Amino acid sequence: MNIAIFASGRGSNFQAILSAIDAGLLSARVTVLISNRSDAAALDIARTRKIQTSHLSQKMFPSEEALVEAMLNVLSQQRAELLVLAGYMKKIPLQVVRRYRNRIVNIHPALLPSFGGAGMYGHFVHEAVIASGMKVSGATVHLVDEEYDRGPIVMQKTVEIIQEDTPDLLAAKVLKIEHEIYPLALKAFAEGKVKIEGRKAWITL
Ligand code: GAR
Repeated sequence: MNIAIFASGRGSNFQAILSAIDAGLLSARVTVLISNRSDAAALDIARTRKIQTSHLSQKMFPSEEALVEAMLNVLSQQRAELLVLAGYMKKIPLQVVRRYRNRIVNIHPALLPSFGGAGMYGHFVHEAVIASGMKVSGATVHLVDEEYDRGPIVMQKTVEIIQEDTPDLLAAKVLKIEHEIYPLALKAFAEGKVKIEGRKAWITL
């Protein structure tokens, strides 16, 4: 399975996916790393591994159509079969969502459908979770559709929240399980075990 990774920042989920591939746990190939930020650390990880990189930012194009065209070109040139968002802080353009329907996944640092949507990313998520008084949080792998953080849920795992947790401590606990479940979810895709029925997705045995 050829994977295109989309990342905007540090790239620890990208690294976890590469480690799972290296360890033989995930049968896949990352053919391209796409970032909207030229200074993303994820780009350095890709360069070190000699993985093709592509910096695609709206600022570089006169219109959204032009950005979409460039993105679709990169994806088809690199024969991407699954688009994997790993800390990608931009919305995937509608035309790309439609072209890769049910073939775009994202990881979110909370238990969707709660604590998702516009503005809910990075530390904002953990601040909102702590402020809510919830006793559990977690990570969610879900398919990307037209609605922000609303596509069918593929996999989730929880962590407990204790009184001493700060947003930073919770973020670290959640990140640890993100690194566990993202490769597992991708393995299910690679093995053709993800079944999608309407708003629901299931991993078959
Ligand atoms: C991760 O915690 C990921 O769940 C979150 O950004 C972080 C990226 O870390 N994504 C979102 O908030 C998307 N809404 P990484 O760059 O080290 O993988």
